[in-house]
Amino acid sequence: MSILLNNHGYENDSWYQALSQTLPNQTIIRYDQVSDIEKVRDQIRYAVIWNHPTKDLQYYPNLKGILLLGAGTEHLENDSTLPEVPIVRLIDPEVLKDMGLYSLYWVMNHQRLYDCYRQQQRNTHWQRHDICQSQDYQVTVLGLGAVGIEVAQVLIRNGFNAKGWDASPRAIADLETYHGKQQLADALTDADTVVNCLPLNKGTQSFIDAELLGLFKHSTQLVNISRGAIIDDAALLYALDSDQLDRAILDVFAVEPLDQQSRYWEHPKVTVTPHMSGATYARSSAKLIAANILRIENAEKPFPLYQKRVDNH
Ligand code: OXD
Repeated sequence: MSILLNNHGYENDSWYQALSQTLPNQTIIRYDQVSDIEKVRDQIRYAVIWNHPTKDLQYYPNLKGILLLGAGTEHLENDSTLPEVPIVRLIDPEVLKDMGLYSLYWVMNHQRLYDCYRQQQRNTHWQRHDICQSQDYQVTVLGLGAVGIEVAQVLIRNGFNAKGWDASPRAIADLETYHGKQQLADALTDADTVVNCLPLNKGTQSFIDAELLGLFKHSTQLVNISRGAIIDDAALLYALDSDQLDRAILDVFAVEPLDQQSRYWEHPKVTVTPHMSGATYARSSAKLIAANILRIENAEKPFPLYQKRVDNH
C-alpha cells in the first residue's frame, strides 16, 4: 500500500521520517520528490496532505482516505473536486494543550500587568499596581471547535471567567455560550481578552472588522491563534492607533511569513509570534494519522472527520 505525502509548500522531511517510522511496512511517496506523479497515482491508497494543489486529489483512482496535516480546512473549501472518501483533520491533543497554554500565558500577562512591570524594571522603578482578580477577569473565546473549547477550559481551570461564541448554538458543559450575530455584542462588550479560534471560511474572512472591534472595551486585548485573514488588518491597526483597543497578540497572519514591511512588527501594542502557538509535532501526529489509516482499513470510522461548514456568520 502506498501513501502520498504532500505538505505542499512546507517542509516534508520531518513528516517523511515520522511516517516512515510509524508505518514501517508502507511505501511513503513524497509528492515533492517523485519524478512523475502520473506513474504512481494508481498505487496511492491514502493521501497525507496540507495545502494540496486544488483539484489534484481527484486523480488518485484507488484513494481510500485523505489525512490532513493540520486542523485548519480552509484549503479544502475552494476545491469542488474532492473525492468521496473520508477526510480526516489532524487534531493532536498535544497541540491543543499548547494552544490553551499560549492563550493562558497572554491572558495572565495582561491581567497581572507583566508588560508594565517589565517597563518599570527598565526604568528601575518600584511600584505595585492593583489588578483585576482572575475570577473577575473576563475572556471571550470566538469559535467553539476543538481549539476554542480547550482554550476556554484551560482558562476556567485556572480561575478565569470564560465564555464562548460561535456562529451556531453550542452546548458545552460549564461554559456560557452565545451564538449568531445578534448575540455578538453580549459576548464581547465586557471581554478583557478576546481569543480568536474561529476557522477561516467565506463567512469569517475579515470577520474581526471595524464594527466588531467597536464592541470591545478600550482595555481589551485581542489574541489571534486561528487564521490571520479573519482580521481586517487596517481596522485592527486603526483600533490600536486610536486607543480603541489595548493590545493585540498575533500568532497568525493573512500572509505568512509576515511581510517585512508590516506595521505589526514595530507596533508598540502588538506582539508577533511566528504561528507557533500550536506547532505540530510530527512524531505524535504521525501516530494519530497511522491510527486513522488503520481505522479505515478495518472499516471503522476515523476521526475527527472534516465536514464542510454550511453556516455563514
Ligand atoms: C493548523 C495550524 O491548522 O497549524 O493545524 O494552523
